[in-house]
Amino acid sequence: MTIDDLGLGLKLSGQAGWNQTEGDWRRFIELEPEGCFVGELNGSSVGTTTTCVFRKVAWIAMVLVDVDARGNGVGTTLLKHSIEYLKSRQVRTIRLDATSLGRPIYEKLRFVPDYELARFEGRAPEAGESVTVVTAAPEMFADIIEFDRRMTGRERVKMLGRLFEEFPENIRIVRRADKIEGFITMRPGANAVQIGPCTATGEAGPALFGDALGRCAGKPVFVDIPLDNAEAVKVADSNGLTVQRSFTRMSWGRKAVDNAETSWASSGAEKG
Ligand SMILES: CC(C)(COP(=O)(O)OP(=O)(O)OC[C@H]1O[C@@H](n2cnc3c(N)ncnc32)[C@H](O)[C@@H]1OP(=O)(O)O)[C@@H](O)C(=O)NCCC(=O)NCCS
Repeated sequence: MTIDDLGLGLKLSGQAGWNQTEGDWRRFIELEPEGCFVGELNGSSVGTTTTCVFRKVAWIAMVLVDVDARGNGVGTTLLKHSIEYLKSRQVRTIRLDATSLGRPIYEKLRFVPDYELARFEGRAPEAGESVTVVTAAPEMFADIIEFDRRMTGRERVKMLGRLFEEFPENIRIVRRADKIEGFITMRPGANAVQIGPCTATGEAGPALFGDALGRCAGKPVFVDIPLDNAEAVKVADSNGLTVQRSFTRMSWGRKAVDNAETSWASSGAEKG
């Protein structure tokens, strides 16, 4: 898949009712130019998959097949091709967030479920901004990414660095005695503002969540929450957000290091 296929990508994500924008598709292709693929059926481009390598761990996303072309093995072929590509990059673990349509295909390819996430949606309530939450200065980005690595055990500099660069005004943090206690970010989507990722301590999480909702006041929002983080689910509930859909985080290969309790919001199903 190249930049010339952005139109195909947008058509398929729009057809599935997903939230990605042209900027999301462009980011995938630019972050992994050799690892995004188009599937063809009888000479027509009908499917997509993107990958993103984070050293030994990789993410697969945007597994989409045109409704008229489904059931012909295009999705499975794209997945197998992506796995081969990632093996050639010496990846030991591959992760993704599966929809109920995708999960059976991934299980056949030896992905195993790790945990469930729910996409909460709603209209952000009008709220005052929390005094403890501030916008991060660009010189703090490296510290925020280091905080994320320590708290989640995940190496996400490639994706986080790019998101921070694209939306620097959206990175909000809680600090105590100069130490980062959490961060949250958000970006525009085709249907709603996607809030996340948010990595935080138990105290900072609710403040960051409230701050993000306050900054989206009155707008439709999506936020993907690991259900193991019961406190985050409570905050979403208490702000009137409701579950729109569920995803299963799955992995292939070596068991992934993970710490769902420190994750108050994922980056979205396509970014993990
Ligand atoms: C998930 C998705 C990519 C699968 O693509 P696909 O090309 O239909 O996948 P495949 O043909 O390889 O496999 C689909 C399975 O469903 C079966 N199937 C049969 N008829 C089908 C039909 N009309 N539509 C879809 N699947 C059908 C296939 O036989 C196959 O099972 P099998 O391997 O036991 O034969 C596609 O349904 C899609 O784009 N869904 C919406 C987006 C989505 O949820 N993506 C997954 C994100 S995690």
